Amino acid sequence: MASLQSFCAATVSPATDLRRLFRLETGKGLPISRVQFHTFYSCLIADEKQMPSPAAPTRKPPLSAKSLDLIEREKRVLVGTYARTPVVCARGEGCKLYDVDGREYLDMTAGIAVNSLGHGDVDWLKAVMEQANTLTHVSNVYYSEPQVILAENLVECSFADRVFFTNSGTEANEAAIKFARKFQRFSHSSEEAPISTDFIAFSNSFHGRTMGALALTSKENYRLPFEPVMPGVKFIEYGNIEEAKKAIVFGKTAAVFVEPIQGEGGIHSATKEFLQALRKACDDASSLLIFDEVQCGLGRTGRLWAYEACDVVPDIMTLAKPLAGGLPIGAVLTSEKVAAAINYGDHGSTFAGSPLVCHAALAVLKKIGDPSFLEAVAKKGLRFKELLTRKLGKNPHVKEVRGLGLIVGIEFDVGAAPLVDACRASGLLLLTAGKGNVIRMVPPLIISVEELEEASDILEMCLPALDVAAVL
Ligand SMILES: Cc1ncc(COP(=O)(O)O)c(C=O)c1O
Repeated sequence: MASLQSFCAATVSPATDLRRLFRLETGKGLPISRVQFHTFYSCLIADEKQMPSPAAPTRKPPLSAKSLDLIEREKRVLVGTYARTPVVCARGEGCKLYDVDGREYLDMTAGIAVNSLGHGDVDWLKAVMEQANTLTHVSNVYYSEPQVILAENLVECSFADRVFFTNSGTEANEAAIKFARKFQRFSHSSEEAPISTDFIAFSNSFHGRTMGALALTSKENYRLPFEPVMPGVKFIEYGNIEEAKKAIVFGKTAAVFVEPIQGEGGIHSATKEFLQALRKACDDASSLLIFDEVQCGLGRTGRLWAYEACDVVPDIMTLAKPLAGGLPIGAVLTSEKVAAAINYGDHGSTFAGSPLVCHAALAVLKKIGDPSFLEAVAKKGLRFKELLTRKLGKNPHVKEVRGLGLIVGIEFDVGAAPLVDACRASGLLLLTAGKGNVIRMVPPLIISVEELEEASDILEMCLPALDVAAVL
């Protein structure tokens, strides 16, 4: 195990060549002597378990007065829901982010799996500018062509017959909850059994922050301060077929919500057998099977939809993050049988499905839906996992490298925050997941093999940061 000393040396010595370290736009690197650590969070929430470990040095951050001023102003006027990383982003280009001080970062976060085409994709930009110049918003009182074309395209390339648009992932899940309840009322009202109103969700699940989606989210400290949330949710161990079969009950279970790959929960993939068993149990109990592909859908796994790997088709699938290339969108894709239960006025949104957002989403879907694009994602994902396993696999803190396509996690036997800090100081942006002991990488899908090599090099170089955590 590398010592505390060797970690400190590794992070300040020119010999380690922190070649990306705070590279300025001018091309000149900061003198290594100016390199300092600062602690930060790499996930969205203020979670005690993910607070910076005492191992992370807390010297004054090398941020400019401009950055520090903005961070101070943010603290005064924003509601304190986000424990932000102290990077004040200024612009993005491809897989690179630049802060207001001109530092360059390789972005393995993509705005939490949103910027799949990277920052500033030319075709996406053209679509946004064209549409903004033509018609941005009309509300759902009226028809607009981009919305209908996007729905036609989504239907064309998925199991679904119909689409409902929202503005975010949590709203898509909220709509799916309502659709499931309405479906059960609509289709079983004449039977003697009580109408099913309950839901099944899984350990490590994350479905969003609004009251229904939150009720389906397993982490207690997200839910408990806001109880009572939506009642009638039972959590089952992710992957436990027997437990799930027992829990899915006719006349009780309206729907089962499952992420084919859990992102926030720590990059856990469902097996084919598990999803197939859920499908059968749902069919037997007249319950709906709902796949939340908000994070793992739309090309991230190297297939257009994550469910394609399992020969299982859901009744409903929710989408969001990457669909409009960075503009806010969500979508609920459903079978005709579910959609038939929904009437005028059952649900709605002022903003959702605007011409601007839908036109941007069409540009994204066109690119990602190209089989050669998907094939490249699958190949890059395999290569990246190989690189990580080879370079990091022997380190005693590394428990597992896992994931599919370009949703990749590394689980450690200690909290990953010090490693994330050290990598950021070396110009690599990462997210944590799970209980804070997993590094989550969801880079833009356009990332090059060279950039993946660079990410794995920086990770390898910074790994000794975990020894500091383990020692203290
Ligand atoms: C699987 C999954 N579902 C739902 C959500 C909620 O999406 P949003 O933050 O857009 O509301 C997320 C966000 O991380 C997610 O990963």
